[in-house]
Amino acid sequence: MARGERVFAAAGCYACHTDVKGGGGPLAGGRALKTPFGIFHTPNITPDRETGIGAWGEADFIRALREGLARDGGHYFPAFPYASYSGMSDRDAADLWAYLRTVPPARRENRPHDLGFPFGIRALVGVWKWLYFAPGRFRPDPARGEAWNRGAYLVQALGHCGECHTPRDLLGGPKREMVLAGTSAGPEGGKVPNITPDEETGIGKWSEGDIVSLLEIGMTPDGDVVGDTMGEVVRHATGKLPKEDLKAIAIYLKSIPAVRNRVSSGR
Ligand code: HEC
Ligand code: HEC
Repeated sequence: MARGERVFAAAGCYACHTDVKGGGGPLAGGRALKTPFGIFHTPNITPDRETGIGAWGEADFIRALREGLARDGGHYFPAFPYASYSGMSDRDAADLWAYLRTVPPARRENRPHDLGFPFGIRALVGVWKWLYFAPGRFRPDPARGEAWNRGAYLVQALGHCGECHTPRDLLGGPKREMVLAGTSAGPEGGKVPNITPDEETGIGKWSEGDIVSLLEIGMTPDGDVVGDTMGEVVRHATGKLPKEDLKAIAIYLKSIPAVRNRVSSGR
């Protein structure tokens, strides 16, 4: 369970599934996520049997997380970042499930999403998946060290950093040649910076320590404090991780291909 709590933090489930502004209970859903396709209202994932996922079994949960499939076989919209979580290890997924069972159940009905036509059609998500989704566990690179592989796993799978930091094409698929290169059309319509090691447009001039501080307390090397959605990531996710995990993320980020892409800062 303690391990599950750490997976839960790294995966940032809390921020999306809790309506902090509206005073909703932890994981009771109802948070509105604005996207170019419309507004998603996150579901209740507490163990409440009627309005949450209390009637689910572990296999239902793992299928949702890994394959983006609901209990009735319907497709989940990729606003639920299962494309990243698919890489989660079996142990982490099982521990996460064990942890979720311990959260206090909260009664709160799910609200339907408000999506523009044709994005609200679940069956079309099948096409999206066919184009962009390759389910499968994260595979460590034996040529790299343990810290690099841990960092790669945290960035690609658990931390789903690319869900915000990688630009998307018109169908909402990540642009593969621009991984983590930033976008001006991020969540809530905000700008998301380039975090590849490009010296001019990315974070190539940041030291590993600079990256660790940003993830730990949200402070940039210039002394600015990140706001928006990254502020939430720091508060509920990276800020709760042990230092060696943050160092691993920094090592990995310094090693990825530098992509030149200027996204003027929202700060
Ligand atoms: C970026 C926001 C976001 C994050 C982070 C996120 N989710 Fe979700 N989640 C969603 C959205 C949106 C849906 C609804 C998808 C749909 O209706 O197709 C969803 C759906 C779900 C469902 C299906 C619930 C149901 O009633 O069918 C489960 C289970 C779930 N999420 C668990 C998790 C867990 C566990 C985590 C952390 C590992 C997590 N989510 C992280 C946005 C998010
Ligand atoms: C929910 C969307 C979201 C997720 C997930 C996310 N980020 Fe961010 N990130 C942002 C936004 C937005 C900013 C800009 C914040 C600001 O300028 O106030 C940012 C800023 C940053 C910065 C500072 C860059 C700069 O030039 O100032 C770093 C480094 C960073 N993120 C790393 C990460 C890492 C590593 C992860 C995964 C563990 C991650 N982010 C996950 C949205 C996100």
